[in-house]
Amino acid sequence: MKEMLQKLREEFGVAIAQVQDAAELDSLRVKYLGKKGELTAILKQMGKLSAEERPVIGQLANQVRSEMEERITACSTTIAEKELELRLKRETLDVTVPGKTPVIGHRHPINSTIDEIKEIFIGMGFQVIDGPEIELASYNFDRLNAEEGHPSRDWSDTFYFDEDSRVMLRSQTSPMQVRAMESMDLPIRIVAPGRVYRKDEVDATHSPMFHQIEGMVIDKGITMADLKGTLNEVMKQLYGQDTVTRFRPHHFPFTEPSCEMDVQCHKCGGVGCPTCKGEGWIELLGAGMIHPKVLEMSGIDSEVYTGWAFGMGVERLAMRKFKIPDLRLIFENDVRFLEQF
Ligand code: DAH
Repeated sequence: MKEMLQKLREEFGVAIAQVQDAAELDSLRVKYLGKKGELTAILKQMGKLSAEERPVIGQLANQVRSEMEERITACSTTIAEKELELRLKRETLDVTVPGKTPVIGHRHPINSTIDEIKEIFIGMGFQVIDGPEIELASYNFDRLNAEEGHPSRDWSDTFYFDEDSRVMLRSQTSPMQVRAMESMDLPIRIVAPGRVYRKDEVDATHSPMFHQIEGMVIDKGITMADLKGTLNEVMKQLYGQDTVTRFRPHHFPFTEPSCEMDVQCHKCGGVGCPTCKGEGWIELLGAGMIHPKVLEMSGIDSEVYTGWAFGMGVERLAMRKFKIPDLRLIFENDVRFLEQF
């Protein structure tokens, strides 16, 4: 029996040296010291021993047991320390690692262009107003002196909601003139930016949806000189103090006289270059003195009051400002494109 105990002690020594974790240590403990363990099995045979042998073997067995217990306790402490160390390493927070910057969006080039123009007009005492994109045809056309039969009312170039062509997607921001005349007290100074819709095929310079900014002034004694003076000042603030403009005669049903305004190309100074497509001038807006019939239809006495109005396309301004070669890029909403502005 003595040899059996010695052998067990040796075996245990080898086994415990290989233990890696708490689970392994526990099964080792059960294997050697458990109720059905190997040491217990040997001790069960003590009864067969002689009276002289029993205390000697008993002492040895106790010694082996306490040795095993001690080593198990020591091993368990080592494992716990090792595991704690590992856990601390795993859970370390490195405060020196750079943080992740959250991605924040920014204004779309169309909105920033509108905002810039709004700011200029606000600085000149204008009020910014907003109105519906789904508009009555009577506001979009009739009250602007474009009655039934006018070419711009054709099914082929405008979006209607109903068979009798009474409700439509506005084709211009000009109905905001009528809305302002109807709802505001005189004198009126407004700009009205917003989306407009036309049945245009999509290409590098056309889109069925685009943006305009409408402007209007109505007061006593307003003349074409006020229109030119105001727009010239706006263009100087937009393109620089030495900006040159020109006004060409044109026709719009709701203004008389009507004109279009060009700015001399700020790139080439009027010589002709890719920016102005070789023309030296860039067409910016339509404008004119509000037709007396338009004033009268909204209940304004055209003998007492006069006014001017303009409408400009925002996409063209933005394309020039940000050097965008193709209108489609503006609406595709590819962040790689939009992030550049
Ligand atoms: N609404 C016109 C268009 O879409 C632009 C325009 C021209 C607006 C003359 C005006 C104006 O207010 O007076 O082509």
